Amino acid sequence: MATISTEQGAPYSAILGIGGYRPSRVIPNAHIVDAIDSSDEWIQQRSGIKQRRFATAEETVQVMSVGAARKALDRSGIAPEQIDCVIVATVTHLLQTPAIATAIAYELGTDQAAAFDISAACAGFCHGLALADQMIRGGAARYVLVIGVERLSDLTDLTDRGTAFIFADGAGAGVVGPSETPGIGPVVWGSDGEQFDLIRQKEDWRDALAADHPVLPHLTMQGNPVFRWASYTMAKVAHQALDKAGIAPDDLDVFVPHQANMRIIDAMARAMKLPERVAIARDIAEQGNTSAASIPLALERMIEEGQANSGDIALLIAFGAGLAYAAQVITVP
Ligand code: UT7
Repeated sequence: MATISTEQGAPYSAILGIGGYRPSRVIPNAHIVDAIDSSDEWIQQRSGIKQRRFATAEETVQVMSVGAARKALDRSGIAPEQIDCVIVATVTHLLQTPAIATAIAYELGTDQAAAFDISAACAGFCHGLALADQMIRGGAARYVLVIGVERLSDLTDLTDRGTAFIFADGAGAGVVGPSETPGIGPVVWGSDGEQFDLIRQKEDWRDALAADHPVLPHLTMQGNPVFRWASYTMAKVAHQALDKAGIAPDDLDVFVPHQANMRIIDAMARAMKLPERVAIARDIAEQGNTSAASIPLALERMIEEGQANSGDIALLIAFGAGLAYAAQVITVP
C-alpha cells in the first residue's frame, strides 16, 4: 500500500522583523470625556491611557496592514515573494468573506501565498505567531507574515462609559522565518467560553439590521470581571510560558503584555516578581487598546526606543474576548 510522503521544516523559527502602523488621528482623553461623563484624570488613573489613535476613512484595515507589513519585511530583509503564508488576526475586518489576508498578500506582491484571517481578538497576534512557528518547523511554510490589525473605532460606541476610552486603531506585523537557534518558545494558550459574554459584540449582524435604526453592532465589555481575571489568571499563564521555554524570570530582558490597562500590566509584573531591570511595554499610554495590534506595536516602540535589543529574551502574553489567551517567549529581532 502506498504511503503518504510528509514534509519536515526548519529546526527552529524566529521573528525576523517587526513593523507597526499608527493611524494619523491622535485623540486625547479630552476629546472622549464629555460623551461619557468622565475626566482625563479618571481615565489616566484607571487605565493609564493619555491618548489613542483613530484611523481616518482612508486608513482601512488593508492600508494599515500593508503599511505595517512593508516595514516588517524591510527590517527582516525578506522580499514579499518569499512569503508563503499571510495570517491576519483581526475582529474588525467588516466584510465577512473573503479574508482580508488575501487582498493584503496580493497588494504586498507575494507569489500567491496562502492567506487567511483568524479571530482570537486581543490574543490574535500571539495565536498567529504560534501557528507560524508550527508551520515553519512542520514544513508547511518557510516565511510567514503575521499581522494584527484593528479599527476598533468602527465598533465602539463613543457614548459607552465602559469602552469609549479604551479601544483604538492600528496595525502591527511580524515576519517569521527559519532559524538555527530557537527564537519562539512553546505557546501556552487556551480559552474560557464560560465567560463568552464578558467582551463581545452586542448582537450579530442579522439582529443589528433588524433594528428600527440599524447601527454597527458595538463592542460591549464588563470591564471589572475581565480586569480581575486578567490580573490573576494571566500571571499564571505567563509563568507556564516561561517554564515551558526553560526561562526563569531572572533571564528575561523584556515583558510585552497585551496593552489593555496599565494597572493590569503592573499587577502582572508584581505577581510574576519581575526583576527591576526587565523592560516593560507601556505603549497603552499613547496608543490605547488596539486588540490584535497591541503586542507588535508595543514591541516595535520598545525596539525603536532602545528598550528592547536584538537577541533579548522577551515574554509576550495576550488575552481578551473569548476569553482567549496565548503566551510565548521569543527573542527580539
Ligand atoms: O483588551 C481586552 C481585555 N480587556 C481588558 O483587559 C480590560 C479590563 N478592564 C479594565 O481595564 C477596567 O475594568 C476599566 C478600565 C474598563 C474600568 O476600571 P475599573 O476600575 O474596573 O472601574 P469600574 O467599572 O469598577 O468602575 C469604578 C467606578 C464606578 O463608580 P462607583 O460605583 O465606584 O461610584 C463607575 O461608575 O468608576 C465609575 N466609572 C467611570 N467613571 C468615569 C465607570 N466608567 C467610568 C468612566 N468615567 N468612563
